[in-house]
Amino acid sequence: MTRTQNPSVDGRPAPPRQPDDREAFPSGNATWWRQAAVYQVYPRSFADADGDGLGDLPGVTSRVGYLAELGIDAVWLSPFYPSQLADGGYDVADYRDVDPKLGTLDDFDDMVRALHAHDIRVIVDIVPNHTSDQHAWFRETLDSEPGSPARDRYIFRSGRGEAGAEPPTDWVSTFGGSAWEQVADGQWYLHNFAVEQPDLNWSNPEVRADFVRTLRFWSDRGVDGFRIDVAHMLTKDMTEPLLSRAELDALPLDGQHPLIDRDDVHEVYAEWRAVFNAYDPPRTAVAEAWVDAARVPLYARAESLGQAFNFELLEADFDAEQFRRIVSDNLALAELSGSSSTWVLSNHDVVRHATRYGLPHPPRADSGRPALKHGNEWLLSGGVTPALDRAGGLRRARAATLFLLGLPGSAYLYQGEELGLHEVADIADEHRQDPTFFRSPGIDKGRDGCRVPIPWSSTGTSFGFGEGGAHLPQPAWFASSAVDVEERLPHSTLTLYRRALNLRSELQTDEQLEWMDTGRNEVLRFARPNGWQVVTNFGTEPFELDRADVVLASDDAPLGIVPGETTVWLAPA
Ligand code: GLC
Repeated sequence: MTRTQNPSVDGRPAPPRQPDDREAFPSGNATWWRQAAVYQVYPRSFADADGDGLGDLPGVTSRVGYLAELGIDAVWLSPFYPSQLADGGYDVADYRDVDPKLGTLDDFDDMVRALHAHDIRVIVDIVPNHTSDQHAWFRETLDSEPGSPARDRYIFRSGRGEAGAEPPTDWVSTFGGSAWEQVADGQWYLHNFAVEQPDLNWSNPEVRADFVRTLRFWSDRGVDGFRIDVAHMLTKDMTEPLLSRAELDALPLDGQHPLIDRDDVHEVYAEWRAVFNAYDPPRTAVAEAWVDAARVPLYARAESLGQAFNFELLEADFDAEQFRRIVSDNLALAELSGSSSTWVLSNHDVVRHATRYGLPHPPRADSGRPALKHGNEWLLSGGVTPALDRAGGLRRARAATLFLLGLPGSAYLYQGEELGLHEVADIADEHRQDPTFFRSPGIDKGRDGCRVPIPWSSTGTSFGFGEGGAHLPQPAWFASSAVDVEERLPHSTLTLYRRALNLRSELQTDEQLEWMDTGRNEVLRFARPNGWQVVTNFGTEPFELDRADVVLASDDAPLGIVPGETTVWLAPA
């Protein structure tokens, strides 16, 4: 493999050359991400090599063969950094190390080497909006005076009312409760998420410089890309007087809002982009930005992060009209930004799509997000809702996934969806871990149901996850969805994903699609310029095809027929 010397950025010295055994991918393939199938590993729930009940990095390494056989192009790892796990690792105590519970930096290097040896790229999660309250910087604030440089790395304010006993504003955290927490000397700090996640002050140059260091640290270790957590919330206008919650809610989200999706956040990403582009191939980034669709291209532009999640399919019902509109709109948005579109049906924050599609359509909330995020009403009060149609939900999920995998752009898949796993809805309250459950309190069941450790085998301790049990209880029905069962079955969801992902490189040779008329509103059909076609029947009545050469079907399809709630792929004639 050849390597070019990385140029310097902003007058800083070039990043150190990497030892050969940490070599990333060879130069010349700077666009690998545009149509990649990216598999999200939630490390503490994937595979547990040391038997302590928590998944770890050696566990990921031990399953590289499985990932290679699946046919994915990249793995995105949710945070594995030192953390007290107040928010599943999204509370980071040290951005440039591995949590000892999950392994060491050497284990990380071994994992990257093993993944790269199978042509699987590595994307890591960067959490820049907040640190953990265990981070050295935050601990320093507790021994420092109000107004000190240490406190300026975060967002500290005096309280209101007598002796400042009231929080500075009535702002509410995303996880519920006040967004402010008081420290011993009476000041308050802002936390848009859990109490243990103090928000950083992105006006502070030291904060900016430190993240550049972190991005170089992982890039130098051979990481290929980054997923940027809550990318739309970093910069804030905290000019006094601070507005009330109602006043903030009344403001347009036009880039000038004091707290959300500010235009000036792209100054941060322009600096990061220079860092990414100093590597060969350039490191990639994808924004987790819950913003108005029209503003997503700002994050996806080549001079910003380069790609952004589009969560619209994940928020949609299994419905032809919604799917078609979302696909058309997002391909147009991708054209605007010059990036490729992204497609997501499940991740570690939402109810698994097999379960969503097995429940009566939930009422749509205005923004979509809060209704579907976390527990929502279908899964409240103990979770096991009699309305859940397990088989129907899975059937629709398989059809939706095969539709998604045929679309131009990147597909982001979440561990366990390839087994057709349903949400584990009936976790007892005493086992729950997610802060959204504790801060709601108890009303929102939280996100633990999609984070239960993966069943690798139908028998044995924790279904093969590890020797020491699983940190969240696994249900008995995991046995029939275990990897060792599904890999033997020709019609299993795992077999379907493997076949689709392995065919994908033939299908993804261009980035366009053309809708074809089907004469039926509930049937979508599109053709790629290379001749591949995808047909999805969202309805229940069979659809007659004009061809019989189906290459892959999400469920049994008699010759020339697309049964209800089924997708088929047709190869070039
Ligand atoms: C993102 C993550 C989520 C986390 C939150 C705070 O939305 O996906 O899991 O709780 O950010 O970091």
